[in-house]
Amino acid sequence: MTRAVLALRAPSANRVYTAAAGPLVLAEARWVLGAHLGPGVVVRERTVGGMHALEVRADETVDDERLDTLLGLLSSTYGLFEIAGDGLLRPLVASSPLRHPEDLETILKYPGKTNEQFTALLVNLAASLSTRRSGLLDGTLSLLDPMCGRGTTLNRAVRLGLSPIGADIDRKDVEAYRTFLTTWLRTHRYKHQISSASLTVRGEHLGTRTLAELAPDKAAQRAGLAQQVTVLGCDTARLGEVLADRSVDAIVADLPYGVQHGAHGGGGMQRSPLEVLRRAAGTWRSLLRDGGGIALAVNRHTLDHDAAREALAAAGLTVLTSDGAFRHRVDQSIDRDVLLAVPSNHPRLEQLAALDALQEETPT
Ligand SMILES: C[S@@+](CC[C@H](N)C(=O)[O-])C[C@H]1O[C@@H](n2cnc3c(N)ncnc32)[C@H](O)[C@@H]1O
Repeated sequence: MTRAVLALRAPSANRVYTAAAGPLVLAEARWVLGAHLGPGVVVRERTVGGMHALEVRADETVDDERLDTLLGLLSSTYGLFEIAGDGLLRPLVASSPLRHPEDLETILKYPGKTNEQFTALLVNLAASLSTRRSGLLDGTLSLLDPMCGRGTTLNRAVRLGLSPIGADIDRKDVEAYRTFLTTWLRTHRYKHQISSASLTVRGEHLGTRTLAELAPDKAAQRAGLAQQVTVLGCDTARLGEVLADRSVDAIVADLPYGVQHGAHGGGGMQRSPLEVLRRAAGTWRSLLRDGGGIALAVNRHTLDHDAAREALAAAGLTVLTSDGAFRHRVDQSIDRDVLLAVPSNHPRLEQLAALDALQEETPT
């Protein structure tokens, strides 16, 4: 028997990239549901009572509860309904792994912040590529943002119950994130400890290491629900010297756009995001488990798809997405896309690669 579910799209999802919001969430849903649940799910866009929605039809191979939870986590889901036999909508309450208040993601505003809905999309996509993808729902997925800025990805991961790792070369960003997290944890009366120390490897000073441990209260702490956040203030290309090989399930990064500030590199400022990618890709591959996945947000104006694909291939990573698969215009200088990549020896490479072709399908 086929089950049909409707996921309403939040009106605010339209704020930044108006016309692209629909195709973007459709592509997200097809990748995430396809990767988690297999070919028994078909997704299409629909309008209901003037509201934008996704309609999802699932066959009997699909676990109802998992489908609802994943739909609830999609970056712009506003509400879920089961479509009954007579076409009437019955509200659905999906269980959600989100553990902490929403303002952890939304309250901080600054120039250069990656939009939080788009960040949720990147996290969902990277996690779905991992053979350990169910860890997104039970807090065990290990996630790294190797260019974390002021921590939008880290905050999303914390809300999901994960213990993420971030790195950024800009000391001001790392310090601003520490200040934000400290204030947030204090204001919300969380049990927490935050410490920072110099990050030194074989006598060489690479930057700083900040560790935060947090739990909403003592009971959560006692129940083993404490989480850690690690922020490394160093060059992303040096992370291989700090973190264990093959220890990460999902890498999420919003690459420097190469427009306003330029990208920082080892010996001073560089303007080319491609240069940063070439320097860092090998390190990212070595940190990623063979069954892991990467979601990279890129500016098509300053990072050509084929050049990025080649840089990743040289590091042993296969790009799964076609050029423009998640294309949307952010502003005049940013024409954004998402590249999904996995290690070239990923055990599900073929199944995942097939999901790119699925994007073209328009079910009736
Ligand atoms: C587009 S921003 C990411 C913004 C972040 N997602 C946020 O919401 O705050 C790109 C980040 O890459 C960082 N970056 C550039 N080159 C780097 C490098 N070599 N190592 C580590 N971080 C780097 C920049 O400092 C910047 O914070």
